Amino acid sequence: MNQVQVAIDGPSGTGKSSVSKLAAKEHGWGYLDTGAMYRALTWWCLDQGIDLTDQQAVAEAGRTFDLRMGTDPSAPSVAVGERRIDAEIREPALTEQVAAVATNLEVRANMRDRQRALMEQLAQETGGVVAEGRDITTVVAPDAQVRILMTASEQARLARRSKELSSTVEATRAQIVDRDKADSTVSQFMTAADGVRLVDTSDLTFEQSLAAVLQIVQEAIDAG
Ligand code: DC
Repeated sequence: MNQVQVAIDGPSGTGKSSVSKLAAKEHGWGYLDTGAMYRALTWWCLDQGIDLTDQQAVAEAGRTFDLRMGTDPSAPSVAVGERRIDAEIREPALTEQVAAVATNLEVRANMRDRQRALMEQLAQETGGVVAEGRDITTVVAPDAQVRILMTASEQARLARRSKELSSTVEATRAQIVDRDKADSTVSQFMTAADGVRLVDTSDLTFEQSLAAVLQIVQEAIDAG
């Protein structure tokens, strides 16, 4: 197989980001964090004083902003123009506002095109790509050779995220579960679409989750 596109979807707290990065690294492929693209547009709109409820203005900003995704899985980065915004896009205050941008359908159509183009480019340049998000297996790359949905029980996801965020399970529930609910109004990422392999990480360690994903990728490579 010449070029391998790997699409990984799932809600937060499944280990999706860390597994995606390491899977890309393992094969020397590019890595695309599509959630970071929605976060970057949210940052840009706030920076430019654009009202996030003004759907037209946000969509126009999404079409024109100079988004630069760093796709090395060992050091992924996000910039708008020359300005690096890696830390800014992870701020809790911004995280709370991303859903307003990610549920804008015009924004999604534009992001889909950007993401497809980036996946193509990375696959050509490095021989493969691992792209992670919420709608990669279904909308962005439904023809990818490898499509995986990572899931985990709500309990497991909350426990992992509250550990990462150093906050209580209750505070995390408000942040994570409610956000996933808002996001799932526009993309279906809680159950696997037809032909999408399910990796349930509820009872898996991180290493086991990575091994499960690498095995699925290897099967696809072997099947040629
Ligand atoms: O995975 P994350 O928390 O960085 O995602 C940020 C936001 O973008 C979140 O609201 C989900 C949304 N998202 C999306 O709608 N589609 C994607 N392909 C990736 C993320």
